[in-house]
Amino acid sequence: MTHDEIKSRFTETDPRRLERLWRQANELRRRHVGDEVHLRGLVEISNHCVRRCAYCGISARRTDLKRYRMSRDEVLDCAREARRLGYGTVVLQAGEDPRLTGQWVAELVRSIKDQQGLAVTLSLGERPAEELSLWRSAGADRYLLRFETSNEELYARLHAGEDRGLADRLAVLRELRRLGYEVGSGVMVGIPGQTYDDLARDVRMFEELELDMIGLGPFIPHEATPLAAEPPAPHDQAANTELMARKMIALARIARPASNIPATTAIATINTADGREMALECGANVVMPNLTPPEYRPMYEIYPAKACIAETAEHCSRCIRGRIAAIGRKIGTGHGDSPSYLHRHAKV
Ligand code: 5AD
Ligand code: FES
Repeated sequence: MTHDEIKSRFTETDPRRLERLWRQANELRRRHVGDEVHLRGLVEISNHCVRRCAYCGISARRTDLKRYRMSRDEVLDCAREARRLGYGTVVLQAGEDPRLTGQWVAELVRSIKDQQGLAVTLSLGERPAEELSLWRSAGADRYLLRFETSNEELYARLHAGEDRGLADRLAVLRELRRLGYEVGSGVMVGIPGQTYDDLARDVRMFEELELDMIGLGPFIPHEATPLAAEPPAPHDQAANTELMARKMIALARIARPASNIPATTAIATINTADGREMALECGANVVMPNLTPPEYRPMYEIYPAKACIAETAEHCSRCIRGRIAAIGRKIGTGHGDSPSYLHRHAKV
């Protein structure tokens, strides 16, 4: 797809042409990753964060926010729960928290792999290459780190007052790739100041980085963050709607047909009725049910009214299985690695 071809989709409103886009993405999804929807149990292990991202509800700016850090045993209990609920992967996510030390995380990963045999995905922010390498050696399979926007200037505005820019983030993604991780990244859709040209370049970046996983969701303003009070946007401001997020999912599927693409919590948050189902029908093939202990969930509110914040792991598992069955799809078995990764490592 050329830049202009991608860009033209964003302003498309014709129902028949949109239907064609959904069908094309859905067909590619079926052909390359099949009808199975893989479930990844998400454990939000710490809401401490040293970064000051202008969009995020758990950034270091939130001096009023109560902070938590789960113990090793609490995380291991969640991994056991993931296994019991039939998930193939556990995702350990946190703010950028240096007190989750390299050694501590490495031992945790080793224990989960030994005890449960699950695939382990880490999402712990930008960490030094030595730690990423240590975790990979300990058995970590995948890493998620969104680049948020490929517009360097917008990225800098979102991370004002920090000494790391977009180039640093992309360097970490390339390092992850070099270390043999299955690499996931992605962007928010409809960030104040983000244009359709930016989104089209984001799609090209998915290709350039040869991503194995692509996470996409609408930007949801959080009133306790600076970005909630942004001045009026340019005329070609990208909309932070469900429709726009679905277009990005479809385009990501077309750009990287063999990648794993989740129906994200952000989409489920702006459309609680059937946001995930809609995403699964326009290119997505993964869902990440929340496994975080209920007492911690309200403290991990990166954006407001986050879906599932008041639910238990058991409830979410049942809810998601029902939704997947209702649209005629199957629950994934095994680890659910992306074919793009397996091909790269010649495991198939
Ligand atoms: N709205 C939507 N998504 C957000 N994220 C962070 N803050 C918001 C927000 N206000 C996303 C970022 C981050 C991921 C964990 O959550 O893309 O990488
Ligand atoms: Fe959590 Fe539906 S997935 S309530």
